[in-house]
Amino acid sequence: MPCPPLKSRIKIMSSFTIHDFLNRKNEGRQITMLTAYDYPFARIVDEAGIDAILVGDSLGMVVQGLENTLPVTMDEMIYHTKMVTRAVKNAMVLGDMPFMSYQTGVNDAVANAGRFLKEAGAAAVKMEGGAEIADHIRAMTKSDIPVMAHIGLTPQSIHRMGGYKVQGKTDESAKRLIDEAHIVEDAGAFSLLLEAIPMSLAKKITEELTIPTIGIGAGPYCDGQILVLHDVIGLFERFVPKFVKKYANIREESLRAIRTFRDEIDKGIFPSEDQSFK
Ligand code: KIV
Repeated sequence: MPCPPLKSRIKIMSSFTIHDFLNRKNEGRQITMLTAYDYPFARIVDEAGIDAILVGDSLGMVVQGLENTLPVTMDEMIYHTKMVTRAVKNAMVLGDMPFMSYQTGVNDAVANAGRFLKEAGAAAVKMEGGAEIADHIRAMTKSDIPVMAHIGLTPQSIHRMGGYKVQGKTDESAKRLIDEAHIVEDAGAFSLLLEAIPMSLAKKITEELTIPTIGIGAGPYCDGQILVLHDVIGLFERFVPKFVKKYANIREESLRAIRTFRDEIDKGIFPSEDQSFK
C-alpha cells in the first residue's frame, strides 16, 4: 500500500515560526500572542488566528489556584504543554521555563528547555531574566532551542522585587533594562518579552533592538502583544492588573448556565424526553 505523504501522517511543525516573528517586525505587522494551558482553550485560541501561544507558568495562579508561580514544576509544565501542542494547527507554541528549572545552572537550563521541544512538542521556550541568563541563552540556542527572554516585571522574582511592581521607572533602572535587552539579544534570544514597564521605555527598547519585542503592560509601541487568556475572557477574577482588557465574561456566563442546570433538575425540567432514550 502506498504511503500517505509525510505531511498528512505527522504534524511536522506549526505554521508560525520564529522566522515569522522577525519578518513581522521588519514588515511592521503586529505579533499576537495569548497564553493557553489545555486542549479546549488552545483549540479556540488557535482557531481565532493568534500567532503564538505561551504555556505560561501563570497556570500556577489561573489554573492551579496558587498564590504565585514559584511552586510550578517542570513536569506540570510538560503536562500542560502537551495538551496545548496536541490542539494547535497554526500557532507557534512556547513553553515557559518554571522557577528553578534554569536558575540552578546552564546545563539544567538546556536539559529542561530540551524537554519542552522533545517531550511536549513546543517550538521554543520563554525564560525570565536579563544579563544573568545570557550564558543560558547562548547554550540553549547553540542546542537549537529558540529562546524568548523576559525582562521588566519578572514574576519569579516577586520576593526580590517586593511584589508585582512596574519596573524601569527611574532613569537608572530604565538604563539597566535597556542594557539587559541588548545583552539578551546579543546572547541569541529570538525575541524579548517586556512586562509592566513604562510605554516610553518599551518604545525605546523596541526601536533599538533588531529582534521583536512582545509587550504585556508595556504599551502600544512593542512589536507584538500578549495577555493571559483567563484575564481576556474573564475567567480569573482574583487579581486583575491595570494592563488587562477583558473581552468577555466567561465566569458569569458559566455561573448562569450551571445555575440553570441545577434549577432545571430541581424542577424536573431536565432531562426531558429530548434527552432520553425510547
Ligand atoms: O506566565 C505567563 O503567562 C507569562 C505572561 C504573563 C507573559 O509570563
